[in-house]
Amino acid sequence: MRLVVEHGLRVRNWQRAWIPSYFCQEVVESLMATGIASERYPDYPSAGSVSNIDELDYRAGDVVFVVNQFGIRQRPNYQALEAQNVDTIEDHTHDPWSRWAKSSLATYCVASLRKTLPVPDGGVLWSSSDLSLPHQPPIIEERELASSRRLAAMVLKERYLRGDSSCKKAFRELYQLGESHIADGRISGATQTSVELIKSFDVELWRRKRDANIRELTEGLANVDGIDLADLDSIPSGQSAFSLLLLAESQALREHLRTSLVSGSVYPAILWPMTAPGLSPSAQDIDLSCKLLSVHADGRYASEDLQRIANIIRRSCEQFRSYS
Ligand SMILES: Cc1ncc(COP(=O)(O)O)c(C=O)c1O
Repeated sequence: MRLVVEHGLRVRNWQRAWIPSYFCQEVVESLMATGIASERYPDYPSAGSVSNIDELDYRAGDVVFVVNQFGIRQRPNYQALEAQNVDTIEDHTHDPWSRWAKSSLATYCVASLRKTLPVPDGGVLWSSSDLSLPHQPPIIEERELASSRRLAAMVLKERYLRGDSSCKKAFRELYQLGESHIADGRISGATQTSVELIKSFDVELWRRKRDANIRELTEGLANVDGIDLADLDSIPSGQSAFSLLLLAESQALREHLRTSLVSGSVYPAILWPMTAPGLSPSAQDIDLSCKLLSVHADGRYASEDLQRIANIIRRSCEQFRSYS
């Protein structure tokens, strides 16, 4: 992402980026580190289409980030932006193989690959408008080290999942260490390990499995009081949800659910905490961030796992309601 912004600052005279208000705060911070001026526009994963970008107050040199958050958003129409010469960058991290990504009309597209594939690092940048791309950057030492720590964590975690609980502390420490240094230093290319892993991986099979798993988990949670799940029938065709996206009716219920899942060794994600200093999220951003929970259900999970997760969520919601 930094690479495309630095490229656009040089070759497309970008001066200001419009960034969705509900977005990973570390990513926003790293975009701002390029020196581009920025504005936030209200945009939430619960909203369906990214509709309000037509109405922003553009000026020359503007570029808009559009994020297919959780793989469930509807592609916007760029006609009004094209008429004003406003460029677009789409982030397809949550579903890099969607029909939208493959037939994108954006100026540039990016995707981080480690969120949907079992690789320690790596991202992809393309231009569906056939514009010039920056050169592939070399791999820097900091990335090589952070990535090798993540890879070691992945190997140890596999042993842990096979029953060797002695690896748990080590894999968690290595993950945290790798994660906290993955974006250090200059912009880096992907490591050779990630490139080779991706080449030998059946991406489509993995994506289909994720899709089927999220559908199964969603069905297993039909009619549970206190939570709303993303409506899979209204996702545009050719798109696949990133995870089970759950909106709890209150922050207290979300915390109760999270604690119950963690007690059952299920580790959901909070996407995204709105805690970065200086980014001043709106009350709506903060409220959503306190009620959303993203539960992984990718190709690693078998039917029994999904049933177990659904049972924990169902029981935990019932328990919460009986307390309150
Ligand atoms: C939607 C989205 N795009 C991009 C990124 C950045 O990914 P990476 O940390 O691999 O650069 C993230 C990270 O959380 C993300 O959630």
